[in-house]
Amino acid sequence: MSSTVQSLLSLAIDKLKLSGVPEPQRDARKLLAYVLKIGVDRIALHLQETISHLEQQKFENAVLRRTKRVPVSYILGYRDFFEHRFAVTSDVLDPRPETEHLIMEALREDFVTVLDLGTGSGCILISLLAQKSNASGLGVDQSEAALAIAQVNARAIGVAERCEFRVSNWFSNVPAFQFDLIVANPPYIHPNVMGALSPEVLHEPKCALTDHLDGLNAYRKIAMSAEKFLKPGGRLIFEIGFDQGVAVTDVLSRYFFEDILVMQDFDQRDRLAHCRRNS
Ligand SMILES: C[S@@+](CC[C@H](N)C(=O)[O-])C[C@H]1O[C@@H](n2cnc3c(N)ncnc32)[C@H](O)[C@@H]1O
Repeated sequence: MSSTVQSLLSLAIDKLKLSGVPEPQRDARKLLAYVLKIGVDRIALHLQETISHLEQQKFENAVLRRTKRVPVSYILGYRDFFEHRFAVTSDVLDPRPETEHLIMEALREDFVTVLDLGTGSGCILISLLAQKSNASGLGVDQSEAALAIAQVNARAIGVAERCEFRVSNWFSNVPAFQFDLIVANPPYIHPNVMGALSPEVLHEPKCALTDHLDGLNAYRKIAMSAEKFLKPGGRLIFEIGFDQGVAVTDVLSRYFFEDILVMQDFDQRDRLAHCRRNS
């Protein structure tokens, strides 16, 4: 006899609990809703029903992946970020809600041209262009696979005409041009703390997480070369780790920047470093 939605859900929650998944109920419901192609809030209406063999297999497979601590977004294939839904795979960093602070800060002033260094899924550049219909931008990443996802997102969100993506080692393949705004959420995790991260993070590309040095190398490299690519008075905004405010300020103060500010997120932890190219 086929199992009911309720019994499949209970079994899934037990399996997720056993594997140490932090929010087993929430994740089991999300995965079930995804398989049944309904909203999470509609599950209660179907609890006594049975589902097809194929749906059951798909659900069990999704739960199995989650027990191996694959992030829910990689299983679903998307992440909602700022105002849009972004396709994500294990080739890109799963966009974090904290990064929305960078978007909000960037939008506080006008810009027409923007460069996003280490664009990954394109979530920063695409969110910015979606808000500014007269702006255009370039997203670069060292990962060709990530850029393929960014292209998909740019098309789906309707900004593909106004952005370009290029493989580049930071500025190595960026054309000689002075942008109004440069943004970057580079890999900033110190290699010594990688082992303490949640098992989910270990499914993300390593090159998106750490520089394998001291977590500050990308800031140094970007700060060193940014002057050439930024208009006088143009802004550079970095996402930073909660304990990197002083160190990143120190890096920026060695180059051509003024108005260097460290900004906090909603948890009052350092999250952004903001500065301007001197005029
Ligand atoms: C923390 S992820 C950020 C991704 C995306 N911008 C976001 O906020 O979700 C850092 C990104 O930088 C890219 N990256 C790492 N080293 C790079 C380099 N030397 N040049 C260009 N991109 C690099 C990684 O491939 C990754 O996509």
